[in-house]
Amino acid sequence: MLFRELNRGKCKSYLVACEETRMAALVDPVKERLERYLAILAYEGLRLAAVIDTHTHADHRTASFDLRELVGATAVMHRRAPAPHIDRHVEDGDTIPVGKVEIRVLHTPGHTPDSISLYCGGRVLTGDTLMIRGTGRSDFAGGDPGAQYDAIQEKLFRLPDETLVFPAHDYRGNTSSTIGEEKRSNPRLAGRSREAYIDLMNNLGLPLPDKIQEVLQPNETALEDDRLRFPSLAELSKVRQRTAQDVRAELESSSSPLVLDVREPEEFNGELGHIPGSVLIPLKDLPTRAGELEPQKERPIIVVCRAGVRSTTGAAILTGLGFENVANLKGGMLDWNDQKLAVERSRDDG
Ligand SMILES: [Fe+2]
Repeated sequence: MLFRELNRGKCKSYLVACEETRMAALVDPVKERLERYLAILAYEGLRLAAVIDTHTHADHRTASFDLRELVGATAVMHRRAPAPHIDRHVEDGDTIPVGKVEIRVLHTPGHTPDSISLYCGGRVLTGDTLMIRGTGRSDFAGGDPGAQYDAIQEKLFRLPDETLVFPAHDYRGNTSSTIGEEKRSNPRLAGRSREAYIDLMNNLGLPLPDKIQEVLQPNETALEDDRLRFPSLAELSKVRQRTAQDVRAELESSSSPLVLDVREPEEFNGELGHIPGSVLIPLKDLPTRAGELEPQKERPIIVVCRAGVRSTTGAAILTGLGFENVANLKGGMLDWNDQKLAVERSRDDG
């Protein structure tokens, strides 16, 4: 197995390749370095089988969407990832083949709901879950310090002590560590109870990353900023959230809301299906097509997507256009399906 860190900076991208078949995977590629990755792949004579993001990043734009388009690599993320155009959604225990190398997926939520760690050949790529002598923050983008503590203790710390640890970031110039070293010396974890960890993580008082909205929303939507003016953090935080059960009850009431689905057409009729009676306007078209909803302006609108993230952007856009009664389906079609609520899979079935 060929293994390299490619960025030599604070944001780390990794190349994993099968020397025998010359198939490769890139983990957490950064958009600004796209040409560098293509050059390295060409120089090494490798074919890019997969691009994997360990989570939806808030500090750099991913190159995965570009690499998927340019060389046809399979884009892989956890099932909870909000973005469209992910070719393969993985869950805990799944494997990702790279030639004869097998990468095993560990679901390690907490930094974000869609955080995964990748285990292969005695190494574990820990994303922003476990860092060298640190852990990824869990105070925004669906973060959950309790879930993070559990994922580290019950999944990462059960790997063999000699397993090499490669995080997605390092701000102190470290390059790798081991599970054993982190168990002994990680100051956030060693000798700390779950409760104490949650308390620590909830009180870090870190500023938000620079340009978070210019980075996070394109990563969540796979849209370029010129396609859409993304709402501000303040606009997003005002969006009212409804659970799947709230929405089900509202749909059964006399003042039934209009359900607006903002995913791509292939998702609308894909695996998760859509809520019966819903209207489809993909997020990228919403600013230009919102006029179609004008006749229903008095009616409450529930905006829906895969994970409830793109639809929060959609709801904020509609609110900005003067729609007054807009709410978001929290957890999106993922939660809707998990609750076993009614879905329709195709417009013209039957
Ligand atoms: Fe991150």
